[in-house]
Amino acid sequence: MRFVAVGELTPGMRIGRKIIDKRRTPMIEKGIVLNQKMIDHLVKNGYLGAYIVDRFSDEIEIQETVKEKTIESGIDAVSEANVGSIIEVASDLVKDISSLKRISVDMFDLRSFDDYTYHHSVNVAVYAVSVATKMGLPEEQIQEVAVAALCHDLGKSKIDTNILNKRASLTDEEFEIIKKHPRYGYDMLYDNFMVSSPVRQAVMCHHENENGSGYPNGMAGDEIPLYAKIIHAVDVYDALTSRRPYKGPYSPVDALEYMTCGIDILFDAKVVAAMKEVIPAYPPGMDVTLSNGEKAVVIAHTSQALRPKIKLYSDGLEIDLCEEKAFANIFIVDSGFYKDQEGGEDGKVEKLNDDRGKEREALKTILVVDDNKTSLLQTKAALGNKYNIVGLDNGLACLNYFKVKGAPDLLIMDIDMPILNGMETVEKLREKNYDKLNVIFLTALASKEIVARCRRARAKDYILKPANPIYLKERVELAFDKTLNRE
Ligand SMILES: [Fe+2]
Ligand SMILES: [Fe+2]
Repeated sequence: MRFVAVGELTPGMRIGRKIIDKRRTPMIEKGIVLNQKMIDHLVKNGYLGAYIVDRFSDEIEIQETVKEKTIESGIDAVSEANVGSIIEVASDLVKDISSLKRISVDMFDLRSFDDYTYHHSVNVAVYAVSVATKMGLPEEQIQEVAVAALCHDLGKSKIDTNILNKRASLTDEEFEIIKKHPRYGYDMLYDNFMVSSPVRQAVMCHHENENGSGYPNGMAGDEIPLYAKIIHAVDVYDALTSRRPYKGPYSPVDALEYMTCGIDILFDAKVVAAMKEVIPAYPPGMDVTLSNGEKAVVIAHTSQALRPKIKLYSDGLEIDLCEEKAFANIFIVDSGFYKDQEGGEDGKVEKLNDDRGKEREALKTILVVDDNKTSLLQTKAALGNKYNIVGLDNGLACLNYFKVKGAPDLLIMDIDMPILNGMETVEKLREKNYDKLNVIFLTALASKEIVARCRRARAKDYILKPANPIYLKERVELAFDKTLNRE
């Protein structure tokens, strides 16, 4: 069995795993041979693709992390906000995962489609239970993590669907409303005797960041309960790897990279370490491209996450990238179909995002101020041609820019610069009434004092240098759009 991207499905392919629809009907059952109408349906509804069985891939086994029935009951229980059923599903989830030979979330049709509110909560629970198990939590606590994960976004039912489903960027007022959903969820569970206090706390705190920049209470580090740390990290992972009306899906390897860059800023280090053990960067059944240009499919895990066992499409040769000497210098450069889905000009999937594209036609201006030329060029390269990027190499030039051109849409500011450093420059701009200016600081060092100063300067974010392109790109999107913070 292997996973085939929606754009590459053709009539005659045989389905290897049942496809659950938005409302759970109609489903495409395992063993069904696809026709064009079914493929059109999958494209129209934003599916990433489907598992198919063929002779090339019949020996690839995809471990079923949780039973189909558990997922379906989870979607029902969450959509009805039925806490009794949620608790039952939670214990099924824990049972399914604890009986696995290897705790590994190999199924990536978990995040099949766009209408994901209820599905998302079930995915988050699957990841959260896997992580909690890997971290060695006792069984009663894993059960509580499962309940909290299934309940984490219940409070969204109290929020206007026009705001929740808005395709364009949220206004500040709308984002303030979204930020109430953890508290609403907490209130919904408050007098429910079936739910323990740590579960309610986790629901309340699932958007808190390690550095205190999250919501609703701005808690930091140890103040944030462990359950909430786990749910927060896997929540963001699920949002990154899902296709949303406003963004393409990240591949698992890119999303894991994002999580790593967010350690101690957004996420707990131990939680991210456990995630990397239970979520494969290259799950079996996924297509990959090698650095020598060859296409292959992943057939099994090895001891190294980034070097799985693969099978070449050209001649069917099976290669363990950990062992095979002839392939010692060859590595995976691209995960299957993800590149095509993200902002390419052609392809069926991109058309789904057409409306969004129109809203973005007017390019936003980002001013990048950094005295290090290499770092300036790296930032420019990471952000690509989606934005109008202006580069300056000192704080005085930046102040001058504001005098002549006014405020850009976003200022990315290096802190450590001669003459006028980044922090002083932003403080001067704030004095000049650039109150609503969006600022992201770049810093080589995230000491407590620097973080406190960034917050006093009302920066949106700070990013450690040298910045990983995936992380930087997503944090910039977030500064404009709050995408991941909506989830
Ligand atoms: Fe949430
Ligand atoms: Fe969520």
